[in-house]
This record gives sequence, structure tokens and C-alpha cells, in this order.
Amino acid sequence: MSKIILTGDRPTGKLHLGHYVGSLKNRVKLQNEEGNKTFIMIADQQALTDNARNPQKVSSNLLEVALDYLAVGIDPMKSTIFVQSQIPELAELTVYYLNLVTISRLKRNPTVKSEINEKAFGQSIPTGFFVYPVSQAADITAFKATHVPVGEDQSPMIEQTREIVHDFNRIYEKDVLVSPEGILPEKGQGRLVGIDGKGKMSKSLNNGIYLADTEEEVKRKVMSMYTDPGHIHVSDPGKVEGNVVFTYLDVFGEDKEQIQSLKEQYQRGGLGDVKIKRYLNEVLEDFLKPIREKRAQYAADKGEVLNMLKAGSLEAEKVAAQTLDEVKDAMGINYFK
Ligand code: TRP
Repeated sequence: MSKIILTGDRPTGKLHLGHYVGSLKNRVKLQNEEGNKTFIMIADQQALTDNARNPQKVSSNLLEVALDYLAVGIDPMKSTIFVQSQIPELAELTVYYLNLVTISRLKRNPTVKSEINEKAFGQSIPTGFFVYPVSQAADITAFKATHVPVGEDQSPMIEQTREIVHDFNRIYEKDVLVSPEGILPEKGQGRLVGIDGKGKMSKSLNNGIYLADTEEEVKRKVMSMYTDPGHIHVSDPGKVEGNVVFTYLDVFGEDKEQIQSLKEQYQRGGLGDVKIKRYLNEVLEDFLKPIREKRAQYAADKGEVLNMLKAGSLEAEKVAAQTLDEVKDAMGINYFK
């Protein structure tokens, strides 16, 4: 069945292997499926909801995220890549949807709740941040998306969107909006653990390997990776579970037999950390080198990348404007039509 897909990222940093495993890989697959229409949005407006005093953090990462997309094979001929802030219709839809959502409902959103704690806003929660799930509903419904591939933490946003769609269509007695489904990562295929083994790979934990990292940076990070602290001498038996090197080999390694035999040897004792790290470094280089090269090619022509984003934004705006028009029709506020 053909799908309309919409997803996106806040441009607050470059994308890393965790993003690749958790979402980018799947997006490339979806974009290549016959009949699908894919929209990929750089959510700069959402990123500004908690960076209003530091807009440069957002604007300077816009191009970085676009380069990461292109480098992993998101293809502007197949996917519409666009910039949220350049589509004013999204903000306009948000205004109408806000009237359908209560403050107490917003307060119950578990992802927003935990973000508020993490970010330590205290009593100073920006209103725009608090209501961003409603703006996200506008992003999704503007394109009549049927499917939204996202991480587990975004499920509450999809749920909220479905409620808005349901309420809107009922109240205005017209099936204008489409109820989306989330596409969540399969069990165990979610976000990759960081190189420190402590938590998911993330910028704030400073435990990431980035798509744009140089060969030297990748090597240094692999060599510092968390393994098994009990594996002190080469001859000691080592643990494979929770050992980040083996986790990454399972995800990125192609030679499954070789990996299995390395695991067995490691568990028996007699295989050193440096050796498996060198092997992982080769595996990661095989994967990252073409991505890094493609990224550098695009980075050499930033004007071209901006043109691509501009064309994508113009195309996206046409779709969003059509939906907004239908929304206003349904609400009976298209006075001058
Ligand atoms: N909230 C998403 C994130 O933090 C980004 C996002 C904004 C998004 N609008 C969206 C994702 C619409 C999917 C659909 O990564």
C-alpha cells in the first residue's frame, strides 16, 4: 500500500550513528518503496522552542543536518526535504489546532514532561515549547501523512495528533484531516547505545560517533569504547553482553560468522580488546567512508544544498497550503473565497 510519510529532526547538532540506526536507514528504505511519497522536515521552528535565545545554534545546524541526510542517501529526487520555518501554513494550522487542545491535556504528555525536567526550565517553561506537540500535529496533518517513522519517545505526539484529527473532523463535520500511524523501530532496533555504554547515543552525553567524523576521530572513539571492565588481561574470559564493541559489530558488521567466532574467542579468553577494536574500526570505516566522502562533496557546494532545500520547501508549501485551505473551508472562515 502506498504511504504518505512525514518525519523530521530538530537541527540542534550533526547526526550520529544512533540517528542512522534508529531512523535514517529506515527513511532511505521507505523513500525507495514504490508508490510512497516521503516528506522530510528540518524542524528548525521546533528547535527554537527551547533555543530562542540562541538561534544560531539552530540556524548553523540546518545545513549540517541537510548534509547528513544527503550523505546517507536521502535523495531529493525521491523525498521532499524542506525547512519548517519556511512554511507559514504550519504555524497557521497550529493556531487553529491549539483551540482544540486543553492545557491539562498538554500537561499529561510524558515526553514533554521528561524534557521539561531534563532541560531544567524550572518555572520558566517557554509557552512555545509547552505546546510543540500541537505544532507537530500541524506538521503531520498538513501533508496528510499516513505514516510517521519516529522513535519511541515520539509516540505521545502521534497520539496527540490522532486526537486533534478526530476532534477536528467531528467538530467541523468534514473528513479533512488524516489520522497518522507511527512507524516505531522494531524491538532492539531502537537507538544505539553510546560509546561509553552508559546510555543511548546522544549529543548531551557526548558519547556519539558522527556521520561527519573524520577517520581519526572515529578511530580515537572506537579505541576509547566501553568493553568489559573485568577483561583485564588478554587471556581473561570476557563478556560480550553490554560490550559496546560487540553491540556495534552486531549492528554494522556484515560477516556474521566471523563475528560469532570472535565472540566465542572473547568469551573463552585469549582475544584482546585492542584487536576487536581494530576490527570494529575497519567495519565502521567501510560503512562511514562513502558517507563521509559524499558528505564532503555536497559540503563543497553549499549553495546547491540551499537550492535543494528551497525547492523542497516550495513544493512542501503547496501541499500545506492546500490542506490549510480545506481546513478553513471546513471551519467556515474562508470569507473572501
Ligand atoms: N519532535 C521531533 C524530534 O524531536 C521532530 C519533529 C518535528 C517531527 N515535527 C515532526 C517528527 C513531525 C515527526 C513528525 O525529533
